[in-house]
Amino acid sequence: MKVDVLLGLQWGDEGKGKVVDVLTPKYNVIARFQGGPNAGHTLEFDGIKHVLHTIPSGIFHKNSQNIVGNGVVIDPVIFVNEINKLASREVDFHSNLLISRKAHLILPSHRLLDAAYEAAKGELKIGSTLKGIGPTYTDKTARNGLRVGDSEAPNFKEKYKSLKFTHLKTVDFLNFDYSRFLIDGLSFDEYEKKWFEAIEFINTLKHIDGEIYINQLLLDKKSILAEGAQGTLLDVDFGSYPFVTSSNTVCAGVCTGLGISPSRIGKVIGIFKAYCTRVGSGPFPTELFDATGEELRKKGNEFGSTTGRPRRCGWLDLPALKYSIMLNGVTELIMMKADVLSSFETINVCTHYKINDEELIDYVPYDLSRKDLVPVYKEMPGWAADLTGMTNINDLPKELVSYIEFIEKEVGVPIAIVSVGPDRTQTLIRKEI
Ligand code: GDP
Ligand code: IMO
Ligand code: MG
Repeated sequence: MKVDVLLGLQWGDEGKGKVVDVLTPKYNVIARFQGGPNAGHTLEFDGIKHVLHTIPSGIFHKNSQNIVGNGVVIDPVIFVNEINKLASREVDFHSNLLISRKAHLILPSHRLLDAAYEAAKGELKIGSTLKGIGPTYTDKTARNGLRVGDSEAPNFKEKYKSLKFTHLKTVDFLNFDYSRFLIDGLSFDEYEKKWFEAIEFINTLKHIDGEIYINQLLLDKKSILAEGAQGTLLDVDFGSYPFVTSSNTVCAGVCTGLGISPSRIGKVIGIFKAYCTRVGSGPFPTELFDATGEELRKKGNEFGSTTGRPRRCGWLDLPALKYSIMLNGVTELIMMKADVLSSFETINVCTHYKINDEELIDYVPYDLSRKDLVPVYKEMPGWAADLTGMTNINDLPKELVSYIEFIEKEVGVPIAIVSVGPDRTQTLIRKEI
């Protein structure tokens, strides 16, 4: 068996949570492989909306197991809050949620460090979600981090104290006064208390040696879907560095984040919005600063699922999409939020970038924020029909079909699913995955 992968091709928030939930009945296991509570994955069904941050989006299906892989970073407080919020859904966390012992822990002092680094950056700040992601991955690669498995050992508190001590020294060095700084509404000491309580709860859940467990699942012919967080253009190597997250969001991250070999990767399902959004700082060539951008934000309800910040909005960027498809080896595409484009008289799609005033390129250059880079658009006719109630793919307006076929031709990969609303049921299949 192979591990299929579903990941975002833009700057995150493409709708990964919704689609993973829709596809879960086809899989035995859903596994997160990177990122942490910077993610906000929204699922809607039965008139209820859920936002998941660390828990994989297969959790609402009784027959699926959900694994938090070694590549994920976990804030125990946020994780337990998430579990508590799902209390009414009768989810069996003790058998359906498994955590890799090698996943790293986000300490309260990582949260302080994140805020201190951002404050020190001033205008050049990344626009981080301030969930401690960067500092935790930094400690991982610097070989200082604490892992879930460490919390099972008797000397855990000592290790914690020693790491916290170094963090607080750095925070002082950065002149960051944290005495009145609140972490999700709590003082440092209050958060720390909750953190240890949450660790105790996490220790009642199943901890696994994830890499061994997953490879055994494959030998047992179980089907696995790896669920990406963030998006390819936020990848620490290939995104618009330094305005990126601190993990490998691309398909290669599945191998290191779950412990499977590259030969075990099956389908790579790439998901993109019919337009583009970005939250936080960094280049965004097709960003719209006018009424059209505002309309996209309003119609698409483009406000961050984790932080509530308004998302920056713009037209679909094909050079960037092709780049993401190339990096991930995407085998099928899913187009999200087609309904949001309804009732625009015309739609623009960026086919190239112009640089040096004359040269046309259709790839992502080293510096995406270079001042001379101008997006070149193809204008396409819009459609007036409301798509949100459609249940048959053949009912899509012909202008939308032309838009879909144009994208497929440009990027060379078929669009298998078109999503026309946030609910599970608002999902139109063009080709079975
Ligand atoms: P994720 O991080 O990739 O899981 O995406 P988010 O949940 O952060 O953001 C996607 C948002 O779009 C959520 O509010 C979803 O409920 C919503 N959504 C998903 N698919 C569609 C769609 O096809 N149409 C509309 N209008 N909203 C959608
Ligand atoms: P999902 O999984 C959109 C952005 C932040 C910031 C940058 C670094 O819901 O698609 P970090 O907190 O990682 O230090 O932030 O990355 N970012 C996201 N943007 N969706 C996400 O996740 C994001 N996770 C991080 O806004 O610009
Ligand atoms: Mg999101």
